[in-house]
Amino acid sequence: MRSLIDIVDFSVEELQQLMDTACDISAHPEKYQDACRHKKLATLFFEPSTRTRLSFEAAMLELGGSVIGFSEAGSSSAAKGESVSDTAMMISCYADIMAMRHPKEGAPYVASRAATIPVINAGDGGHCHPTQTLADLLTIYRENGRLDNLTVGCCGDLKYGRTVHSLISALGRYKNIKIVLISPEELRLPKYVKYEVLDKNGMEYVEMTSLEEAIPELDVLYMTRIQRERFDSFDEYERLKDSYILTAEKMKLAKETMRVLHPLPRVNEISVKVDSDPRAAYFRQALNGKFMRMALILKLLEEAKDPQKEAAPANVLVNELICDNPKCISSTEQELDHIFKCVSPENGIYRCIYCEAKKKVPVG
Ligand code: NCD
Repeated sequence: MRSLIDIVDFSVEELQQLMDTACDISAHPEKYQDACRHKKLATLFFEPSTRTRLSFEAAMLELGGSVIGFSEAGSSSAAKGESVSDTAMMISCYADIMAMRHPKEGAPYVASRAATIPVINAGDGGHCHPTQTLADLLTIYRENGRLDNLTVGCCGDLKYGRTVHSLISALGRYKNIKIVLISPEELRLPKYVKYEVLDKNGMEYVEMTSLEEAIPELDVLYMTRIQRERFDSFDEYERLKDSYILTAEKMKLAKETMRVLHPLPRVNEISVKVDSDPRAAYFRQALNGKFMRMALILKLLEEAKDPQKEAAPANVLVNELICDNPKCISSTEQELDHIFKCVSPENGIYRCIYCEAKKKVPVG
């Protein structure tokens, strides 16, 4: 069953098809108003969300379908101790497609292995958020007119900001992308994204701490909030929370063609005075998110009519290594196999298939 767990599950051609469908939906919404009649979307939100959940719900309603679900873990059986796999199997009896947000990294992947309907990852802990990336890609495509030959600055909490991890993975598929990583030392991009995405795709990147220094060369500035809920230490959050504030003054340093994106919600990292600048694209981005989710639902439901057997992951170790990331779904899910995939045989580097945590084993 085809699901969307990681943005790299889709090829560049498929991403382009989704963007083309989304543009057609935005131009001719009436053509799609009955496309999902009698179909149900289940939204399983074990973590708070406004935009993502409501845009999924609006997307399904505008396709003529209906929506069931919950918006907090406390109102689901997870509060009674139900596993993600059991929830996924049970929801498969009631809905045609599900979107899941979960605080544990890898939870939607676990759901996709148990479910008999397509599963969409609507954000898993600090790991990834592929449908936000669909919104981001369509926004860059529409606003900048291209998805290659771009200098993209990612600013803020690059450590816990899952939207940045997924966006960088997606941009790794396009030509001549330069990534400028702007963050405090403590909130730098995780090493697995640097090694597995930036280095493996031969992408040019630079790490900086000053937004003012970075801004003049950017085509896209992707602002993010400092992710309070993912910090282990409240003091550290307090110390870092005001690291970056994009003001109208700083916008004067940027190109006329630069676009400001933000997955939202904003806390204080973009001054409201920037909102009236035509380069501020974040509310248009939120609208693009709905169109891309409509295109995604259509695609996955279409493919579900003729499910292909999924190949078992190759080069894996099953229950030989234990993932010690406390935020990984394998730390809580009952009887879940610990599976590690070899990503660098010469150096003996393995990564957990749920959360991508690294393990090194002696070679030879
Ligand atoms: C993002 C998320 O949930 O990761 N929000 C969203 O989905 N639009 C970004 C954030 O919460 O900061």
